[in-house]
Amino acid sequence: MSAPSIEDWLSDTQAWVENELERQLRGDRAEAPSSLKDAMEYAVLGGGKRFRAALVRLVGRWWGADDAACGAPAVAVELIHAYSLVHDDLPCMDDDDWRRGRPSCHKRFGEANALLAGDALQTKAFEVLARSAAPCAAEAVLALARASGDSGMVGGQVLDLAMSGDSALRGEVERMHAMKTGALIAVSAELGALFANAPRAQRAEAREWGQSLGKCFQAVDDLLDVTADKAALGKTPGKDAAQHKPTLVAVLGLEGTRRYAEEHAERARAVARQWGGPWSATGLQMVDFLLQRRS
Ligand code: IPE
Ligand code: IPE
Ligand code: MG
Ligand code: MG
Ligand code: MG
Repeated sequence: MSAPSIEDWLSDTQAWVENELERQLRGDRAEAPSSLKDAMEYAVLGGGKRFRAALVRLVGRWWGADDAACGAPAVAVELIHAYSLVHDDLPCMDDDDWRRGRPSCHKRFGEANALLAGDALQTKAFEVLARSAAPCAAEAVLALARASGDSGMVGGQVLDLAMSGDSALRGEVERMHAMKTGALIAVSAELGALFANAPRAQRAEAREWGQSLGKCFQAVDDLLDVTADKAALGKTPGKDAAQHKPTLVAVLGLEGTRRYAEEHAERARAVARQWGGPWSATGLQMVDFLLQRRS
């Protein structure tokens, strides 16, 4: 059997997870106000690379899970991610008017509605996991909660806001990246292994793979803020320096950040090689995709 190329895998995952997201967002919510539903759907549907869902599904397949098993965790991580973007763009945080090539959620629906849509997307993620019939549902809820909460994404966002690019130290930025971005990417890989019922050792390796991918991912995000244009990026470039954000580029420079991304890409490649099998080719291409992406 030959595994798909990363391009095919990403485009196939985009279509698949869009469908799953629509199903989960549109089912069983008669009581939800339509303005809230509209803001939630606007934030989630029809955009994004769906890299985290692709990672859940890739690790899931690697260890034997089919799409039926991967649907709930893939939807859950994309819902948490979408909520994190809605809140990240708010005026009290990064204050960005653009996201995924269109006005950010608060520009379209107002700040209070965007805040509340983010809240409801977060709880929806856990609802989806808890509803799944999988025996590992409770474990998955725990892993996703830890990755998204005070010791994970939210904690990292707090550190991001508390630091300045003028004075931050490399180690502090690395820790902040691991929390605000790495934790959700690491748990995406881990949930793939968990829903595939992979042995504990592989679950830990999946998390390690995701951590390296996450470091690489946010390093490239920091680079793209400097080097990409708005049309390709779908969000406002040049904001990090203007807002004195504590980015890797601020502490290492462009070349240093590129080297850092390559270093962590190599660590990620090592896990993909060690796992082997037909999916290792797609896994290795996933690493290259993260390094070379333009959006
Ligand atoms: C952007 O994530 C936010 C970061 C954690 C850097 P993505 O680049 O994955 O955003 P979408 O989902 O493709 O829009
Ligand atoms: C965001 O990091 C990380 C999140 C948890 C959303 P950034 O603030 O750099 O993400 P972008 O560049 O706005 O997408
Ligand atoms: Mg931010
Ligand atoms: Mg931002
Ligand atoms: Mg950024």
